[in-house]
Amino acid sequence: MSIHISAKKGEIADKILLPGDPLRAKWIAETFLDNAFCYNEVRNMFGYTGEYKGQRVSVQGTGMGIPSASIYIEELINDYEVKSLIRVGSAGSLQKNVTLRDIVIAMSASTNSSFNRLKFNGSDYAPTANFELFKKAIDIAKTHNIKYHAGNVFSSDIFYADQKGYYDIWAKYNVLCVEMEVAALYTIAAKFGLQALGILTISDSLINGAHTSAEDREKSFKEMALIGLDTLIN
Ligand code: ADE
Repeated sequence: MSIHISAKKGEIADKILLPGDPLRAKWIAETFLDNAFCYNEVRNMFGYTGEYKGQRVSVQGTGMGIPSASIYIEELINDYEVKSLIRVGSAGSLQKNVTLRDIVIAMSASTNSSFNRLKFNGSDYAPTANFELFKKAIDIAKTHNIKYHAGNVFSSDIFYADQKGYYDIWAKYNVLCVEMEVAALYTIAAKFGLQALGILTISDSLINGAHTSAEDREKSFKEMALIGLDTLIN
């Protein structure tokens, strides 16, 4: 086992979906995977391995925010030899044309986190999606007629920003939405030369304060999980 994951060696597939919410990991395993078993209950951060269309796939909750997610991502890579990682999560829209339940496929991630600055001695690294996964996800969304946006997202270390208009500058520079983990996922995957992608669904709007119902969230999460799973196995 690693420090935060109790799986035995070999119990985690080399392709993995990463929802923030561990109960979403359980839901994905129960909804989409055959022969799924739970390999981790440490901190209730559930992880499952099963089969999707005959291929071995895992799904692991990461918790919210870069410090939590980066722990799971590093351990999955270092201790369990995971090679392809796709975050599936929710995001708040920063653009008028990015509306509730839309899917955003993250080409790159800006951030206010010090995670990269700490690594790069104060300089700015540009966290970028793996091109193969990115292209596959776009092709799959198109094939299934699922509305998507592709572009820069913002990984924030703060959910409740005190200042009014805190994200205005990012919106002005065409950042599509705000979430809390993708920048670290892309940076860590790059360090190990591995494939990573972030796929997000819009759960709320920072422009007009709208937010999705639980039912809406489940439906859009389903589409996102399907794009993620099909991208992993193709
Ligand atoms: N995830 C979903 N909505 C969010 C928001 N408004 N800020 C940060 N992360 C989010």
